[in-house]
Amino acid sequence: MNEAEKITAEMFLPEMVQRYPATRAVLDLYGLHGCGGPQGPREQLGWFARLHDVPIEKLLRELNESASQAPSDVPEFAPSIGDTIYRPFFLAGIATVLTLGCMWGAINLLTIGLKQSFTAVNYSWVLAHAHAMVFGFVGFFIMGFAYQAFPRFKHTSLWRPKLAFTALPLMIAGILLQTVAHLLSPSSLQLEIAAATIQTISVIIFASTIVMTARQAKKPEVYDRFVYAALGWFLLAAVGNPVVFKLFELAGSREQLLFNLATFNIPYRDVQLLGIAVVMILGVSLRLLPHAYGLREPSRAWQGFLFWGVNGSILAGVVLFIAGMSSGNHWLLIVQWLTTFVLLAVAIGTPRQYRLFGPVPENERDRGLKFIRAAYVWFIIATAMLVFTPIYNFAIYMPITGSHVPFSHAFFGAYRHALTVGFIMMMIVGVSSKVVPTLSGVDVRRANSLWPTFLLLNLGNLTRVSSQIATDFFPSAYSVMGFSGFIEVVGLTLWGYELFANMRAGKKLERETSVHEQNGNGRFRITPQTKVADVLTHYPQLLQVFLRHGFGPVANPVLRKTMARVVTIEQACRREGVDLTELLAELQNVEISDQPANSEPVVPITRIATIQ
Ligand code: HEM
Repeated sequence: MNEAEKITAEMFLPEMVQRYPATRAVLDLYGLHGCGGPQGPREQLGWFARLHDVPIEKLLRELNESASQAPSDVPEFAPSIGDTIYRPFFLAGIATVLTLGCMWGAINLLTIGLKQSFTAVNYSWVLAHAHAMVFGFVGFFIMGFAYQAFPRFKHTSLWRPKLAFTALPLMIAGILLQTVAHLLSPSSLQLEIAAATIQTISVIIFASTIVMTARQAKKPEVYDRFVYAALGWFLLAAVGNPVVFKLFELAGSREQLLFNLATFNIPYRDVQLLGIAVVMILGVSLRLLPHAYGLREPSRAWQGFLFWGVNGSILAGVVLFIAGMSSGNHWLLIVQWLTTFVLLAVAIGTPRQYRLFGPVPENERDRGLKFIRAAYVWFIIATAMLVFTPIYNFAIYMPITGSHVPFSHAFFGAYRHALTVGFIMMMIVGVSSKVVPTLSGVDVRRANSLWPTFLLLNLGNLTRVSSQIATDFFPSAYSVMGFSGFIEVVGLTLWGYELFANMRAGKKLERETSVHEQNGNGRFRITPQTKVADVLTHYPQLLQVFLRHGFGPVANPVLRKTMARVVTIEQACRREGVDLTELLAELQNVEISDQPANSEPVVPITRIATIQ
C-alpha cells in the first residue's frame, strides 16, 4: 500500500487536494468545478460523496488512484463563469430584499399601521413590492441556486453559462421598468408590456438553460420533475404578468377592480407563490435534505403524492377558483377549498418523512438547519390557516365584525405572509446560509451562527401574522403590526451582510489563487490578469523585463508596494502602450531561476536615477 491510499471518507477536501493536487480532477468530474475555491469546501469526503450522489467506495478508489499521479499531470485550477454564477444572482436577491422588496413592504406596512387601514397605502406600491419579491427575490435565488447546483448534482457543466448569465441583467431591467410602470399607472401599459417581455425572455433563458443542462447530463433524478414544474409555473406567471397588471392597475371602474381582484388575485398569487416557490423548494428539499444533512429520504409513494398532490391542487385550485368566482357557482369554490387540505397534508407529512425534527448528528448540523426546520413549521401554520380561511370568514369574522362580505383581508394577508416570509423566505435564508460559505471555501460550522437573524425573522413574522389578524377586532393591533416589518428587515440585513462577507472571502480566495495560480509543480503562472507586484514577488529578476518595456514606476520600491499591487499586466500594457502578447511571451519565456520569493528586486542605481 502506498501513502496515497490513506485517503479516507473522513478526510477534509482542502487537506486532500493540498496533499494530492491531482485528486481535484476526480472531484471536478463529480461536480466540484470551482465550488469552495481551488481546494474545495471545508467538508469531509463522505459528505461530498453523499451530496454529489457518488458511491463513497468508488470515489475513494478513484481518488487514491489519482493521488499517485505525477505532479506535472495535474490540471490547472481555472475557474470559469459557471463556477461562481450564483454570486451575482444572490447579490441581486439581497439587494432586492433591502430595497424594493422587504424594505418597501415594511414602509407600506408602517403606513397601513399608522393610518389603521389596509387601503391607506397606494395599491400600486403593494403590487410593485409583491412583484419585486416574487420575480426578484425568489426568482434571483432560484436562478442562482439552480445554475450553481443543478449541473453539479448531475455531474455535468452548465449549458452555455454566458447565455445563462444574461437572465440576470434582463430580469433586473424588467423589474425596474415594471416598478416604474406601477408608479406611473394608469398611463403605463406600454412600459409594462416592455418590462414583462424582457422578464419573460429572462425566464425562457433560465428555463432552457436548465432543461438543456439536464439533457446533456443524461442523469435523471427524482426531483427533476419538481424543477420542470416550477419552471412551467414561472413561465405561466411571466406570461400572465402583463394581463394581471391590466386587470389590477387599469380596471375601468371601482366595481370592475373589485371583481378583478376578487377573481384573479388569489389564483395569480397561487401560481407565483405555490407554483414557482413552493414547488421548487419541495424539489430542492428532496435533493438537499437527505444528501446534505443525512436525513431520511421520503418514500417513493410520498414523492409521487408530493408532486401530483401539490401541482394538482395548484392547477385545480386556480381553475376552480376563477370558474367559481366568475360564474357565482359556490360548489366550485367548495371543491377548490378541498384542494387546500392536500397542501396541509403535504406540509404535515413532508417533514415527518424526512424526520426533520429528529436527531441530526453533531457533524451534520450547521446554521442553516434551524431555518429549514422553522420554515417547515411555518409551512404547516400557513397551510392550516389556508384551510381555516372560510371557517374564519363565516364563523368568526362575519358574526363578530358584522361584515356582509365573507372575506377578511387581514386574515388572508396574514396567511400570505406566514407562507412568504415564514416558509419561502426562511427556507431561502436557511439554504443560502448553508451553501454560500460552502461555495466560498468558508467553514460553515465556524461561520456566524445567524441566531439574531433567526430570532428577528421569526419574531417579526409571528408579530405580523398575529397582529394582522387582530386588526379585525382591535384597532390598537395596527400599530404593533406597523412596526413588525422593520424587525424582519433588521434580521435580513444581518443575513445579507453575512452572505456578502462570505462571498467576498470566496472571491479573495480565488483572487489569491488566480495570482498564485499553481500547477502541479507549485509553480506560479503569469496571465494577463496577474498583478505586476505578484510577478515581481515571485520572480524578482523579471523586473528587468518590465523596465525594458518602459514600465518606469516599477523601479520605485514604494510604487511596487502600492500601485503594482493593484495593476494587472494587461492594464499596465494598456497604460504604457505596450504589446500585451509580446510582453507576456517574454515574461513567460524568460528562464526563471529559483530565486527566493520574498527577495527584493535589484534595480541598478543608475536606472533608478534616470527613471525618477
Ligand atoms: C419583511 C418582509 C415583508 C413585508 C414587511 C411585507 C409587507 C407587505 C405588505 C404591507 C403588503 C400589503 C398588505 C397586505 O395585503 O397584507 C404585502 C403584500 C404582499 N407581499 Fe409582502 N412583505 C414582506 C415579505 C414578502 C415576501 C418574502 C414575499 C414573497 C416571497 C411577499 C409577497 C407579497 C405578496 C404576493 C403580497 C400581496 C400583493 C397583492 O395584494 O396582490 N412579501 N407585503
